[in-house]
Amino acid sequence: MDTEQANKLVLEGERSQAVRRKLLARTKQSAEIRSRGKRALAQEIVQSVDLPHPIYIDSADGPNLTDVDGNEYIDLTGGFGPNVLGNRHPAIEEALAAQIEKGWHFGIPSAPQQVLSDIVKEAGACVDHVVFCNSGTEATMYAVRAARAYTGKTKVALFDGSYHGVHDYALVKVDPKSPRSRPSPRIQGAGVPSEIATDLMLVLPYRDEAAFEIIRENADELALVMIEPVQSSNPRLDCKEFLHALKEVCEECEVLLLLDEVITGFRIEYGGCQDYYGITPEMVTYGKAMGGGLPIGAVGGRKDIMNVFSGRDGASSIFSGGTFSGNPLTMSAGIAATTYMHDHKDEIYPYLMEQTNAFAAQINDYCRDHQVPAQLMNAGSMMHVVFTPGEIDSSRDISREWNVAEREFYLHLLGYDVIIPGIHLAFFSAAHTPDDFQKVTEAFKRSFDDLREDGLI
Ligand SMILES: Cc1ncc(COP(=O)(O)O)c(C=O)c1O
Repeated sequence: MDTEQANKLVLEGERSQAVRRKLLARTKQSAEIRSRGKRALAQEIVQSVDLPHPIYIDSADGPNLTDVDGNEYIDLTGGFGPNVLGNRHPAIEEALAAQIEKGWHFGIPSAPQQVLSDIVKEAGACVDHVVFCNSGTEATMYAVRAARAYTGKTKVALFDGSYHGVHDYALVKVDPKSPRSRPSPRIQGAGVPSEIATDLMLVLPYRDEAAFEIIRENADELALVMIEPVQSSNPRLDCKEFLHALKEVCEECEVLLLLDEVITGFRIEYGGCQDYYGITPEMVTYGKAMGGGLPIGAVGGRKDIMNVFSGRDGASSIFSGGTFSGNPLTMSAGIAATTYMHDHKDEIYPYLMEQTNAFAAQINDYCRDHQVPAQLMNAGSMMHVVFTPGEIDSSRDISREWNVAEREFYLHLLGYDVIIPGIHLAFFSAAHTPDDFQKVTEAFKRSFDDLREDGLI
């Protein structure tokens, strides 16, 4: 079905129109805020639902979000990843309150940065030293610069289907029409010079040994290979062999390997995918969960590589900084979150893995038994509903045919009081009870039924 046909079905669809009426009637404050905001705000950060206005959130607690009109939702946004412990966890709230009493931004160093760096070193298999910044984007940007400085080489490779943030190097993507095993690069969006893609970056096929040949061919120029151990675009945990083989090839070619654990760090396991897969790269980037919900990023790695940040031991030093990097409020939230996750790791991670796997199995059974052209892909508590019925080896296998159905699916879920940011991964947290899992399961099934009723699937 093409997009035009699908949009026509939405306009005529009894269920699609009913959920819109319901949501519009109960989100009048959100609509009002939107109309005021249009005067100055160029763009909302994320437009997560197909309504004339976003749903503005007023407060959050545990597994729930409440919007400005007082509607409560089961939160599957996870704050886009950080909230492994759910919203407003008391341990983090207490740490923030205590730090606010003492002041929240000093510019010059404060002790909490030392404490969190020790925690990260302890948690990350490859971390001798760490530096803090304010986002995952900054972390991968610094990692790229550090790798170039350390190796004296220029090119950096990333994979088809990857996401590493929004700096220019991370916006090098793959032309979907290029051959799968020999992909060619394409810049995402305007404003990034195409020379970045053609002269400074390489794109590699994901979960495909052809990547190893491309690395070998470019070894003399290649400083760094960066990879998400779980790609957001097709979350899965069956990548162990590929990652270990990649590590071997990088070693053979004297190319650094960066595991971008901005999402997976402190989420898949306390020790992230380094622990889950038993892999020790040369460098790692963190963000999200490590900051307990405050803006954070970090680069960690082997001591001789990390020396480029200080110029120690004769290393060629790179420029780094940031007004808010390592600020005491973020560090305090990070210490509280990581300490709690560490002390409760034997409960949190098995719970999230088992519950989410069981949820995925139920949804996938339902899709199979009711011929719904969708599947739930998950890596522990990270998940994505992919509207493609067949086997998915990489993001290349994801069909665009059911884009409208997917958009409508998130709207129906919202009507059943479950909120997922359509463009992003969804997350369960340790605050979601088995009862929440059950409610989400029902909401998913009812939303699929709504799509069927309107002829969208
Ligand atoms: C693997 C990965 N790297 C980097 C980033 C960028 O992080 P941030 O949004 O904090 O800049 C993200 C964000 O989703 C990510 O998933």
